[in-house]
Amino acid sequence: MVGFDLNPVYELIIDDLVKRKYAISDCFFSEAEVRILRNHLLLKQERENFKKAAIGKSFNEQIAKEVRGDFILWMDEGEADQVEQLFFDKIHHLIDYLNRTCYLGICESEFHYARYPEGTFYQRHLDVFQNDDRRTLSLVFYLNDENWQADYGGELALFLAAENGVESELKIQPLAGRMAIFDSKTIEHEVKRVKQQRYSITGWLKTR
Ligand code: OGA
Ligand code: MN
Repeated sequence: MVGFDLNPVYELIIDDLVKRKYAISDCFFSEAEVRILRNHLLLKQERENFKKAAIGKSFNEQIAKEVRGDFILWMDEGEADQVEQLFFDKIHHLIDYLNRTCYLGICESEFHYARYPEGTFYQRHLDVFQNDDRRTLSLVFYLNDENWQADYGGELALFLAAENGVESELKIQPLAGRMAIFDSKTIEHEVKRVKQQRYSITGWLKTR
């Protein structure tokens, strides 16, 4: 390709996305950036009100609790502070790269902080709404501390269709600094019950 530098981290992500519709990257942010983002999330949590996440207008609160138990705070890019600007700069860099190399036509994004208290989960679902299918790629950045243990649960499970029609379940541990990225329109997924508070930034890259 002429005129711009190949980014090896992005190239691996794109390869996997094309082949399997999902990718995992453990080096999208540096370790230092992960620490900064995590501390920022913890600070936000102290100062601002994370709200019980909703699942659409037709559900009552009891049902919502049986579907998802996380608390979220939407990020406002227009009001981004220094740390959030670092985050959005990286995201825009990725979006530009995806649009240039894969012609995805991403023109919008939305992100929120998320906290899953002990005992909560998010049942199997798709990230697109019935009346709005602009979400194209789902991104989750895990901001747990470096000592996250396998027995804390909280895996992201992706339900993948094999060629023979048999479905498989891929479990991804929410390790500090890890990014999961997958096709919003086709990959059903869930968050397994957590035994320890679980932190992330989750968001979507959208088309028009
Ligand atoms: C979501 C979601 C996955 C995760 O917020 O829609 O599926 O691993 N999150 O937190
Ligand atoms: Mn989801």
